[in-house]
Amino acid sequence: MTADTHVPDPSTLQVALPAPSYDLRAWRERIPLLAHAVPMNNCSQAPQTDATRRAAESFLDSWGRDGMDWETWVAEVERARLSFARLINADADDVAVTSSVSQAVSALASALSFDGSRRRVLASGAEFPTVGQLWLAQEARGAVVDWVPLTADGTIDVAAYEPRLSERTAVVSASHAYFVNGAKQDVATIARLAHERGALLFVDAYQTLGTEPIDVKALGVDALAGGCLKYLMGTAGIAFLYVRRALAESFHPTVTGWFGRANPFAFDPARLDWATGARRFDGGTPPIVNAYIARAGLDIIHEVGPAAIAGWLRVLSGRLITGADERGLELYGTRDVDRKAPTTAIRVPGNSADVEQRLRQHGVIASARGNVVRLAPHFYSSLEDVDRALDALAYVLHHAA
Ligand SMILES: Cc1ncc(COP(=O)(O)O)c(C=O)c1O
Repeated sequence: MTADTHVPDPSTLQVALPAPSYDLRAWRERIPLLAHAVPMNNCSQAPQTDATRRAAESFLDSWGRDGMDWETWVAEVERARLSFARLINADADDVAVTSSVSQAVSALASALSFDGSRRRVLASGAEFPTVGQLWLAQEARGAVVDWVPLTADGTIDVAAYEPRLSERTAVVSASHAYFVNGAKQDVATIARLAHERGALLFVDAYQTLGTEPIDVKALGVDALAGGCLKYLMGTAGIAFLYVRRALAESFHPTVTGWFGRANPFAFDPARLDWATGARRFDGGTPPIVNAYIARAGLDIIHEVGPAAIAGWLRVLSGRLITGADERGLELYGTRDVDRKAPTTAIRVPGNSADVEQRLRQHGVIASARGNVVRLAPHFYSSLEDVDRALDALAYVLHHAA
């Protein structure tokens, strides 16, 4: 051995593990659930943070203390609207506040007419049931729904859109990511194909909002909806609908309410006018307590940063995919981390709801759908969380209850 050969002491050797660009440990301390569980169910419900809890409490405090303070409460709804608008590179006037994605799509569909030569709706097989069902409900109004099928691996081939589009297509409905396995669709290409035929594109981005940068203008979408209880770190009861300004101004939804008026406080039942832009898709009294929580959740996503979140989620998706392979678990979905949202689906025999329950006994919160169990980490998740979830799933599947 020469004098300059350095033999490292094995006990000091450290393997550099990938890490996010933000302070993971600090964020984890703000999520009480992490003290006793591994939440891998963000495709269904994000955990509570100190900030979202405080936000809910601040509404309860105001209600308890002041009895009524509509001005402050409605201002909080406006803050949530603006925060969502910023997240998707839109203005507050381009966004409606609704109570659910179902209500958002109902209002949007009610503004479309299906009685002319353009009456076809082209929906992807990856739509969440409520969206597909809402388009089918429009058949009573003259719509005809066609489908872009799912492939065997639970993805959608973008090439399958073109032959199904025609001058009779009114609207294309493409979820950004499939709720079952996170497979993403190439929304920008679908927008271009739809627009070449004069059709509109609606995107349900519930499964991607909060997981990556989303720019409605760069994507070229005409309308986009999403709620708050998944990756936006909020709760049920509030959702948002973006509609491109020029288009929104030409719409007169029949699913409407007094908050969709130019001035809701004119209190004139005999006058139907329209609020600016997408605000006309607002309905009744807004979801106040939900808006408090939504804003706090959105603030977290802005603070951590969608691009930084996307970078870490790609690492976690990679770990889920290779870790599933190593444990002999069967994936349902794409293996390409650039073409998927954080959800990774593992096929399970028998009743997936039972597997979800048994995982709970191992401290892992997963989400069952059909014949898969979904593992869906978020920005606060660690590599150890992913490994623990996969170990628990492998154990549950290999050992009878
Ligand atoms: C992609 C997607 N769209 C829509 C929904 C449901 O929308 P809502 O219950 O707000 O109508 C979900 C899940 O609940 C979803 O995952």
